[in-house]
Amino acid sequence: MYEILAKEVLAPTIKRLKVKAPLIAAKTEPGNFIILRVDEQGERIPLTVADYERENGIITIIFQEVGYSTKLLGKMDKGDFIQDIVGPLGHHIKLDGYQKVVLLGGGSGTALLYPKVRGFSGTEAEVISITGARTKNLIILEDELEQYSDRLFIATDDGSYGHHGFVTDILKDLLEKEGDIDLVVAIGPVPMMKVVADLTKKFDVETIVSLNTIMVDGTGMCGACRVTVGGETKFTCIDGPSFDGHQVDFDELMNRLNFYRDEENLVYANVVE
Ligand code: FES
Repeated sequence: MYEILAKEVLAPTIKRLKVKAPLIAAKTEPGNFIILRVDEQGERIPLTVADYERENGIITIIFQEVGYSTKLLGKMDKGDFIQDIVGPLGHHIKLDGYQKVVLLGGGSGTALLYPKVRGFSGTEAEVISITGARTKNLIILEDELEQYSDRLFIATDDGSYGHHGFVTDILKDLLEKEGDIDLVVAIGPVPMMKVVADLTKKFDVETIVSLNTIMVDGTGMCGACRVTVGGETKFTCIDGPSFDGHQVDFDELMNRLNFYRDEENLVYANVVE
């Protein structure tokens, strides 16, 4: 059992938990994720480790309540115990060898972006972060991103804060004006990552996307997380979660993510609240 040491509401439906998990904290690197179950009957929830304190044995997870299980997790509080956590899983991303890196996070994807921003800040690369959301009160981790970025841009769909428009507008502007960007990292809704990959392909800039697929066992056995990358089947849990954005079949991925949408909505509507 894993004790919740602190809980914070970052935005409506987006919560941050600090959890005592010394063995995971000792081994986690930017880009790794965990799979947790809230209770014995719980669905397995894959979540990126947003932050970690090796010396205190603490990991931080940030999640958006998008369905039944994340809603249950969101109801847990300081002093409660999570049934089990497996991790760190997946490959962490390569940080060295870049001069100028742009990292984009859309919506709650910013939570997944943050550990990578922090990771790149420890390298020689210039770190440019772009975060966006529908409206101002859904912007999260602004202070944290500011701390670890050389430049930070913010966009809101309704223009209530920062650039009035999309994170991809800012990226396009940077790509057009600054010819020396050698890596773009995008994390967020699949349509956003698809737009980013299409855009960076035109500028021939290496692009990494981090995929948040359906996961069950997290060990490469069940096939639930499969994606097509470069024409080959890959498992997000053991081959990813980060992949070459120019090689991912985003259309297939969007179809797979919608596969259980009706069942999820039914459970969410009838069981929660
Ligand atoms: Fe089962 Fe990846 S979650 S193969």
